[in-house]
Amino acid sequence: MKKQVLGLLIAASFAAPVMAEEAVEVLHWWTSGGEAAALGVLKGNLEKQGVKWNDMPVAGGGGEQAMTAVRARVTAGNPPTAVQMLGFDIQDWAKQGVLSDLNAIATKEGWDKTVPQALQKFSKYNGKWVSAPVNVHSTNWVWANKEVLAKAGVTTEPKTWEEFVAALDKVQKAGFIGLAHGGQPWQEATVFDGVVLATGGLDFYKKAFIDLDPKALNSDTMVKSFDRMAQLRKYVDKDFSGRDWNVASGMVISGKAGFQIMGDWAKGEFVGAKKVAMKDFACFRTPGTQGMVSFNADQFAMFKVGADKVAAQNKLATAILEPGFQSAFNVVKGSAPARTDVPDTAFDACGKKAIKDLAEANKSDKLVGSMAHGHAVPASIKNAFYDVITRQFNGQIDSKKAAVEMASAAKN
Ligand code: GAL
Repeated sequence: MKKQVLGLLIAASFAAPVMAEEAVEVLHWWTSGGEAAALGVLKGNLEKQGVKWNDMPVAGGGGEQAMTAVRARVTAGNPPTAVQMLGFDIQDWAKQGVLSDLNAIATKEGWDKTVPQALQKFSKYNGKWVSAPVNVHSTNWVWANKEVLAKAGVTTEPKTWEEFVAALDKVQKAGFIGLAHGGQPWQEATVFDGVVLATGGLDFYKKAFIDLDPKALNSDTMVKSFDRMAQLRKYVDKDFSGRDWNVASGMVISGKAGFQIMGDWAKGEFVGAKKVAMKDFACFRTPGTQGMVSFNADQFAMFKVGADKVAAQNKLATAILEPGFQSAFNVVKGSAPARTDVPDTAFDACGKKAIKDLAEANKSDKLVGSMAHGHAVPASIKNAFYDVITRQFNGQIDSKKAAVEMASAAKN
C-alpha cells in the first residue's frame, strides 16, 4: 500500500506541467434566437477541441453597438481574439495594423481557391488574409406567412413592385399587419437596399451606392425609391418604432403580419420556431430584384493577440472555414456558405435558393455589396445614409429633400 502511494507521488512529480487553458474571446452581435443557435455550432466545435469560448455579445442588429465596443477594447490595448465584422469595417481595422496575418492557415487550407472573390476583397488587406468569412447573407429578401396570404387571398408570389403593393393591400384589408417592420435606422436601410435595386436596377444601384455618383444619388430614380419607402410605411403598424428585427420576424411567424423585408438571417428565426420553408413560410426576392443579390458576409476579424493566444486563434480560424461547419452553421443561420465547394444537400428550399441565386448572380455580374450592411461604402458614409433614410421613412423630410441629402451625405 505504502509502496503504491510512493509510486503515485513519484509519477505525479514527473507529470507534464499543467498547460494554460486555451481560450478565445469572441465579440459579436448575434443575440437573437436564430443567431445564437448558429453561433452555438461554432462554440461547440471549439469546445470539442478543448478551446474555451469566452462570449462577448453586444446586442443590436447590424452591429453598430458592437463596433463601438470593439473600438473601446482596441484603444485600451486589449482586443478580443476575434470580432464579427462586415466588409469595410474589416478594411478600416486592417489599415490600422491591428489584425493578424492568417496567410499561413489560408494557404494550408486553400482559402484562395474556395472563398468567392467578392468576399476576399474584404477578408484580405495588402495581400494578407486578416479575417475568416463565415457566411454570405443578402438583403433583398421578403419573408411571408403562407397561411396569412391564403386567408387574404394572395395566391401567387408577387413578382413586380405593383403586385407586391397589391398583396400588401389585400393582407391589410383582411385584418393583418401588411408589413412587419422594426423602426431602427439599419432596418430601414436594409429595406432600402432592395427598394433601390427594384426601382433603379443594378447599374443605378452601383452608380449611387458604390460610385457615389451625385447625379444618381440626387435623381428622379432616387426620389421614386423614397416614394416607394413612403408607400411601404402605410403597411407598417403604429408600434414599429425601435422594434428589434427578430420581433418583427416573430410577427410574421405567429401570423400577425403577412410580410417582412429583411436579410436572410430572418430565416434563422423561422427555423428556430420549427417552421418549414415553402410550407409555413415563403421566401422570395424583393419584387423587381429577381436575379440580383445585394450581399453581406459576416467575417471574424482576427486581432493581434499575445503569443499565448495565437494557437487558439488559429484553431478558431480553421474551424470557421471547415466545410462541414460551413454547412451546419449556415443551415441554422439562414445564410449561404462562404465557400463555393459546400454542397446544398442539408439546406431547406430557401437555403438552396440562396446558394443558387448567389452562384448565378456572381456569374452574371449581378452581385453587389449591401449598402445597409457595410459592403458598399465605409461606415462614415453608411451612417450618414442611414440618417437620411430613417428621417424620410418617419416623415420628417420628403422624398425630394431626401435625395438632395443623400448626395450631400456622400460628399461629406
Ligand atoms: C447583419 C449580419 C447578420 C445578422 C444581422 C442582424 O449585419 O450580417 O448576420 O446578424 O445583422 O443582426
